[in-house]
Amino acid sequence: MQSPPLSVYIHIPWCIHKCPYCDFNSHEFKDQNLKNNEEAYTTALIKQIENFSIEPKRPIQSVFFGGGTPSLFSPKAFDRLIKKLNFKFGLDKNCEITIEANPGTFDKQHFYGYRDIGINRMSIGVQSFNREHLKKLERIHNPQEAFDASNLAVKIFDKVNIDLMFALPGQSLTDVKYDITKALEVGTSHISYYHLTIEPNTLFYKFPPKLPDGEKSAEMFDLITNKLNTANFEHYETSAYAKKNTQCLHNLNYWNFGDYLGIGAGAHSKLSHDGKIFRQSCFKNPRNYIKNANSHNFYDDEKLLSSNDLIFEFMMNALRLNNGFSQPLFEQRTNLPISIIDKELGLAKDKKLIVQKNGRIKPTVLGQNFLNELLQIFLRD
Ligand SMILES: C[S@@+](CC[C@H](N)C(=O)[O-])C[C@H]1O[C@@H](n2cnc3c(N)ncnc32)[C@H](O)[C@@H]1O
Ligand code: SF4
Repeated sequence: MQSPPLSVYIHIPWCIHKCPYCDFNSHEFKDQNLKNNEEAYTTALIKQIENFSIEPKRPIQSVFFGGGTPSLFSPKAFDRLIKKLNFKFGLDKNCEITIEANPGTFDKQHFYGYRDIGINRMSIGVQSFNREHLKKLERIHNPQEAFDASNLAVKIFDKVNIDLMFALPGQSLTDVKYDITKALEVGTSHISYYHLTIEPNTLFYKFPPKLPDGEKSAEMFDLITNKLNTANFEHYETSAYAKKNTQCLHNLNYWNFGDYLGIGAGAHSKLSHDGKIFRQSCFKNPRNYIKNANSHNFYDDEKLLSSNDLIFEFMMNALRLNNGFSQPLFEQRTNLPISIIDKELGLAKDKKLIVQKNGRIKPTVLGQNFLNELLQIFLRD
């Protein structure tokens, strides 16, 4: 089995305020002593990096500092981590290194600092440029701060993504148009546009806000796709739009079922070795993660993926891509023959959820709109 490309995800699990819709492993930062937290957590991350042994060795294609709010940490912390990754595995010369930033933590010096240590992509959590919607989402920034952070990012980083959400409480089509116009005004080359979902374990789940109905949300989605297409953005994944040559290489590696190391609280890894594929999950609670790292203990779960797991996980990723996947990719990444899913592919084709064209298996528009139904076909007991 040919080794898949290798990426690294590093999780920073703290935020200034927990947003009412957010189900990520992020914790409100109550301890004011950020410096000590940063130091102790970064040291634990470094210990986990040192602990990996990967055969065969492969240079890292992309690094993603996600959260939580990585922009709470200083450039020094990321410098230590990037240097350690380079020493341990080697970074590819074109390695894409992304940091997520919340405009409410916008600090000019930090932005320049991130760039100077080799971070070349920034993903900014704007969500909306509308003051009222930001308030309803309990964001810690206003539209001007979102605009200022995005403008500086576009000026100094090679690649910039803006995260927006639609189908927000009280949102109209005109509001969506405004958000798109503002994002285009910034001049970003990548937009991740998420449909707001109400996740269990969130405040919005407990106290549901009134949201636009399904029909209105579908109209918003069509509006977004049309407006962004007109502005030369390609809709390449369920929620991702990019101008030419600016797709997110890190996320593409997930969607193409590549290998990745997940470092930090709650992060998980997927690694291929000797024709088998393993998954490991780190301790979720940040304090627990730091405490266990002292005794070089990082994982609360490790598992060998079965053929059924591999088929479902491959599809869950690859069918998010509008251009789908090729037969050789399926076989390389899962180590299974494509014939193993002949029956499921036939059924999905009969239901007009996928098409097989020019050597690729792609979701149709119907398949994209009913992705969960499509994926159910590949779910085996
Ligand atoms: C980990 S957060 C990223 C950055 C940073 N923490 C922030 O919020 O500014 C990743 C993105 O996921 C999206 N997101 C989070 N919760 C969501 C939800 N319930 N529905 C839709 N999108 C969501 C938001 O657009 C958010 O920016
Ligand atoms: S800032 Fe981002 S990660 Fe933190 S709670 Fe809000 S959406 Fe979640």
